[in-house]
Amino acid sequence: MESNYQDRIPNNVGLGSNRTLQRALEHWQPEFLNWWHGLGPSDFNASSVYLRTAISVDTKGWATFDYVRMPDYRWGIFLAQQEDDRRVGFGDHFGQPVWQQVPGEHRSTLRRLIVTQGDTEPASVEQQRLLGHTAPSLYDLRNLFQVNVEEGRHLWAMVYLLHAYFGRDGREEAEELLERHSGDADKPRILSTFNEPISDWLSFYMFTYFTDRDGKFQLKSLAESSFDPLARTCKFMLTEEAHHMFVGDTGIGRVIKRTIEVMKELGTDDQIALRKAGVIDLPTIQKYLNFWFSSSLDLFGGDSSSNAASYFANGLKGRPDEIKYEDHIEAESSYTLELPDGKGGIREERIPMRNAVNEVVREAYVRDCEKGMARWNRHLEEAGYPHRMTLPSTRFRRTVGSWANVPTNPEGKPISAEEFNARQDEWLPTSDDRAYVHSVMRGVFERGKMAGWIAPPERGINTQPIDFEYIKFH
Ligand SMILES: [Fe+2]
Ligand SMILES: [Fe+2]
Repeated sequence: MESNYQDRIPNNVGLGSNRTLQRALEHWQPEFLNWWHGLGPSDFNASSVYLRTAISVDTKGWATFDYVRMPDYRWGIFLAQQEDDRRVGFGDHFGQPVWQQVPGEHRSTLRRLIVTQGDTEPASVEQQRLLGHTAPSLYDLRNLFQVNVEEGRHLWAMVYLLHAYFGRDGREEAEELLERHSGDADKPRILSTFNEPISDWLSFYMFTYFTDRDGKFQLKSLAESSFDPLARTCKFMLTEEAHHMFVGDTGIGRVIKRTIEVMKELGTDDQIALRKAGVIDLPTIQKYLNFWFSSSLDLFGGDSSSNAASYFANGLKGRPDEIKYEDHIEAESSYTLELPDGKGGIREERIPMRNAVNEVVREAYVRDCEKGMARWNRHLEEAGYPHRMTLPSTRFRRTVGSWANVPTNPEGKPISAEEFNARQDEWLPTSDDRAYVHSVMRGVFERGKMAGWIAPPERGINTQPIDFEYIKFH
């Protein structure tokens, strides 16, 4: 294996000239493949999939398309180009040179941040492992596998950092990334959203829209880090992440489009009639959206957080697009939080801006989520329907932060627990809704054919036609 290691792991980190690192990764690679075979996509490992592979970071090489069997995918290690004289962009060390090595005093915190990010990558592959069997088309099946192999590469990216910069503890953490499993009772994944099963494609699209978008904001925050190798790694991961969110965005849009078509055909929005016709009614789509949006909001952490404040102060993890802010130090500034007043109302509290970084990032995330809503609602508007999809309030159904376990309606108005229990079936998927959605999930594996509950995409992948043979079964 050693001889062709450069070929097997395309990289721009000089792997060939670093024997220690090479040995560590050689040891880890079979364990990764073992994990892929056991917990990666079930049953399609012999098929040839039309996938893009990153073989360099420049515009020509980062998306090279070809047929690949997934276990042969070349999970490479790429860092975005190093910037000359990059400086710490925020916090107490603002303006000092960034770090090429891990400062001793931040070692365990940085390791924790990398492990937490790394843990989500294989978790999502595990969550999605059975979806291939019910793919609505070859196009969608390819997209699923593209997302899966790239999450695998993102795991490699974090494992590279652990191996290259954190010595023995890093190697141990890299092993544990393959030992925790999504939904495992004894060794679950670190963050709860990544232990939720994704057993239908509506959930998959919601996950790639809302949860991969959380990933985008986490990566953007880490791309600001003063630990330069982490910043550069995350910067490159973001180029791949965009496609994952595209899959969610267009996926939800196509489901809505198809439902509208059938609403028109039948001249009704009656749930029973639409379900009889095999499409997913809009209120059910809204309930899935409420579920995944609220779950993803929790991933940003508490709204008032001393951890977030110290990450910011120390320059470890910042705000996305830091350059857009005026004050990069935020030592004096404050932020007004809206908190439950314990009497069924809302009160305001001013907290130091640094403690509110999670909330600031969450707000930027919510604004980004709204863009997709506008696109989906355009389908409804163009078809002449008054119905609109909406994002629930960030206070709705939270399990992390000040609003954790405070019952509210989707508009964010605090309500009694009795009212929440009585009405939650209007707001969140019921077991009936889930059973119905599952019942329409059947694999469609003929070229150019689409399942009846989803419209075809507007165009194919990499300028290929929609009916391209995206997967060759063997
Ligand atoms: Fe990822
Ligand atoms: Fe992703």
